[in-house]
Amino acid sequence: MENKKYYITTPIYYPSANFHIGHCYTTVIADSIARYKKQQGYDVYFLTGSDEHGLKIQKKAEESGVTPQEYVDNIIADAKDLWKSLNIEYDKFIRTTDDYHVKTVQQIFKKLYDQGDIYKGEYKGLYCTPCESFWTETQLVDGKCPDCGRDVNEVSEEAYFFKLSKYQDRLVEYIESHPKFIQPVSRKNEMINNFIKPGLEDLCVSRTTFTWGIPVSFDDKHIVYVWIDALSNYISALGYLSEDDSLFKKFWPADLHIVGKEIVRFHTIIWPCLLMALDLPLPNQIFGHGWLIINGGKISKSLGNYRDPREYISEYGVDAIRYYLLREVPFGSDGTFSEELLITRYNTDLANTVGNLVNRTLSMLTKYFDGVIEKSDVKTEFDEDLINLVTKTEEKVNNYMEKLEIPEALDSIFDIFRRCNKYIDETTPWILAKEENKDKLKTVLYNLLESIRIGAIFLNSYLPETSKEILRQLNTKETTYESIKTFGLLESGIHINDFKPIFMRVEKKDE
Ligand code: ME8
Ligand code: MG
Repeated sequence: MENKKYYITTPIYYPSANFHIGHCYTTVIADSIARYKKQQGYDVYFLTGSDEHGLKIQKKAEESGVTPQEYVDNIIADAKDLWKSLNIEYDKFIRTTDDYHVKTVQQIFKKLYDQGDIYKGEYKGLYCTPCESFWTETQLVDGKCPDCGRDVNEVSEEAYFFKLSKYQDRLVEYIESHPKFIQPVSRKNEMINNFIKPGLEDLCVSRTTFTWGIPVSFDDKHIVYVWIDALSNYISALGYLSEDDSLFKKFWPADLHIVGKEIVRFHTIIWPCLLMALDLPLPNQIFGHGWLIINGGKISKSLGNYRDPREYISEYGVDAIRYYLLREVPFGSDGTFSEELLITRYNTDLANTVGNLVNRTLSMLTKYFDGVIEKSDVKTEFDEDLINLVTKTEEKVNNYMEKLEIPEALDSIFDIFRRCNKYIDETTPWILAKEENKDKLKTVLYNLLESIRIGAIFLNSYLPETSKEILRQLNTKETTYESIKTFGLLESGIHINDFKPIFMRVEKKDE
């Protein structure tokens, strides 16, 4: 039998008091993929969490006059609240300060030390504190950190090293022989040509210059490099090396790590080499998505040009935000976010195409048939085309989702709603009503409601709240994924529930 498990992860986030819409991008997408896979019958495990160690956190805590642990404890509830407000349905939220994680990282470090993959040496290098990244002279851009453009500092310390160089050839071979391992393919080429082929140097994996991290168990003036700590979350969360490793046995390797493009490097070089050293299978795919750009620059908490996503959610509704994040930007590319674009998307697709369709259809049903859904055998010349489009949608959605072309998948669901609106124009129900052509009118309304039902079930993975509300208004019990495969399951004779417009048009704001 086919293995129907699916393990999907987001990066674990740096705890922040100021989450911005860019942060929501990875997580909303991962959530929709997880929901989609669940709908497909997979046993899904969806992991997210927070990455709580490092000098940056230690400094922030010092500035706020609290211990680092207090600092992270105070803001972690906020992260969970954000995910809740976005309807993120994760299976586990891991914190790198959780005891079991700390223990697993120490065990991993010890294991690699014992087998000779980690050794003690001396570190001299250039470090970017905000990015927590080491760089070589040649990687700097105008003497600055190539990721954020800020100053780097020279650091020199006794340190442990991980034998990254030992795994270089195996890594290249693996990447070349697994074309889907790094996606999109442009990122794969970038990794191979810019980072791996020039030669992997052994990686410094411990620090002594600050204390907020996981102590090396056998040499506790050293703490574990935050990226080794952080990447290990993907297996510690499943109980790797712990007493109960049943989740690990069931779900590892990961099917998909979704990450922003700036951290593809860590996930496609350090992480696979670490896994090879641990003699574990590598993840099936690492997908590096682009950035949401605002005001011409990357939205970033350190640049300060963010607005709390919850402000948008309370203004436009959670699904308006989810829809924007899922639909606007081709997955893998950079894209723009602005409130104006959000409003345009909202009005065009949500308010006009879906909201108006549902409201118009239910209003007609109320007016012509007192809100009772009824089938009739009379056909119109436009039915077949509508029904064809609806029944072909599943295959289209599946093909797009297979390639993680999420905007395209969502758009093909919206094709159903657009086609319904066209069907109304074609069949002109108000004229059928005047002509007292009741049987034809029943057919038209039935086909519309049935198409809307099926469209709403598809939407469940992307816009769960909207999906639920449409199905509630229809008052149908046919809400399973299986039920989309047959056009005509909507129950004849049922009375619709009370209804109101799901999305109200909003006016553009003045600049
Ligand atoms: O990188 N557009 O955490 P993080 C799109 N702790 N995505 C964005 C974005 C934007 N403007 N800003 C941030 C870390 N993100 C590490 C990960 S994993 C073992 C450790 C995305 O809080 C970013 O690309 O800086 C990343 O995928 C996620 O938010 C968390 O970023
Ligand atoms: Mg970052």
